Amino acid sequence: MRKTRDSWGSRLGIIMAVAGSAVGLGNFLRFPAKAAANGGGAFMIPYFVSLLLLGIPLMWIEWTLGRFGGGFGHSTAPGIFHSLHQKNRFIKYFGVIGIFGPLVIFTYYCYIASWTLAYSFFAITGKYTAIQDQATMRSFLAGFQGLEHNNFFQGIGTAYVFFLITFLLNIWVIYHGIKGGIERLCKFAMPLLFLFGFILFVRVLTLGAPNPTKPDWNVLNGFGFLWNPDFSSLSNPKVWLEAAGQVFFTLSVGIGVILTYSSYLSRGDDVVLSGLTSVATNEFAEVILGSSIVIPAAFVFFGPEQMRQIVSGGLFNLGFVTIPLVLNKLPLAQVFGFVWFSLLFLAAVTSSVSLIQPAVAFLEDEFNLNRKKAVIIFSMVSFLMCQAPVFFLKNGVVDELDFWGGTFFLVVFATIETILFAWVFGMERAWDEIHHGADMRLPGIYKWIIRFITPLFLLLILGGWLFDRQGFWAMLLMQNVSKEDKPFVLGARIGVFGLLTVLAVLVKIAWIRKRQVIAKKI
Ligand code: ALA
Repeated sequence: MRKTRDSWGSRLGIIMAVAGSAVGLGNFLRFPAKAAANGGGAFMIPYFVSLLLLGIPLMWIEWTLGRFGGGFGHSTAPGIFHSLHQKNRFIKYFGVIGIFGPLVIFTYYCYIASWTLAYSFFAITGKYTAIQDQATMRSFLAGFQGLEHNNFFQGIGTAYVFFLITFLLNIWVIYHGIKGGIERLCKFAMPLLFLFGFILFVRVLTLGAPNPTKPDWNVLNGFGFLWNPDFSSLSNPKVWLEAAGQVFFTLSVGIGVILTYSSYLSRGDDVVLSGLTSVATNEFAEVILGSSIVIPAAFVFFGPEQMRQIVSGGLFNLGFVTIPLVLNKLPLAQVFGFVWFSLLFLAAVTSSVSLIQPAVAFLEDEFNLNRKKAVIIFSMVSFLMCQAPVFFLKNGVVDELDFWGGTFFLVVFATIETILFAWVFGMERAWDEIHHGADMRLPGIYKWIIRFITPLFLLLILGGWLFDRQGFWAMLLMQNVSKEDKPFVLGARIGVFGLLTVLAVLVKIAWIRKRQVIAKKI
């Protein structure tokens, strides 16, 4: 007997859920660090160009494709692609990436989300409040991650407990389904996230110049540090790649999760305005809130010289070392620390649940499993996979997983779905499909953009990588990996490609079974 398909409870519910998937650690940590390191205000030029030509069109493409495939009972890319061109037997295999990507990202994203939960607990209980210098705060983080034994932590035990709590929380939400789990979580978490963001935004704006000997280290100059444009960066292709990469990451497009979320819409639901609203919500969280917290707050305490080192020191350094230190210098340090890490946790968990849903939906739709069985299988497989980022963090495994799951295949997948949508499904049909049930019409220029500019832009990014010796090729050839870490990174790579193969085989089995069922009925 076929199960009835899950669905969203309200239009607000799906917008909150898609915005929840989009607003994540990328908005509050990745974006400000990338902008500051890549030309400040000038970074916003490639960023907004990418948003208009890639991000927004892909959002509409994914919302439309998802709703279309959902009408055929498919919530994941293999089935959705198959519904676009049913005569082609190979098209569904491209869709494997839309299950693979979220699963790979989930394995490390869930662990990082668990750090934010742990740190909100440490903040409110005052575990790190006395720390006042970078070296000790770094050591606190390294001890927590199990990278060193020190006075704060004697092993990875505490981190593992928080990982288990976060993992189980994710599973619990997914187990309760689209409306009862994801929608309920996002309707509660998103307003709270914005409230926390707003509290920190106001706190940072009122910081003034806290160091009397350094009047220049003030909030206004902090914003200047982030936004003063360095126009020379615009001629650097790397800056364009970084900006496009940030747009993908922050909007959660090219991953497969939005396809899955929108597959639970009904045929008459609007995708034009809803897609745009989810982009606008994400951009507000990113460009207004995200850029107004970490960089200006750190600038007033550390000044321009140290800021350059901090920004180049990576996202974790910024989020888990610099900001706690800054907040420790303020009155009510424990409360503000708690607000900061709770903000990150809410942002992360509403994104991580979205990464689980494609794999669970694949098992439900294509193997006709009930939710309980699908969630149990997902939990067992993903729990095993999560052990790699937890135990081999120091060996570069997270970077390797992020390269394949969170960077490379994301652009490949976006290219495939855009070509399928505009060229295989056909632009005229695609345009009609976008507007089905829509309250407003898209500007005609987007027909042209989706057809020509978006795929061309994506092909340019892929082409740009081929010439990127220090980034792409260095990663591919493991040039920056030490000899000791190579076996771990290689292991992760074999695992990644093994997973792709297994998923492709599962797609094959699922379609063979479907054919057998149809043959029996005849
Ligand atoms: N879109 C999510 C983020 O920004 C993945 O973190």
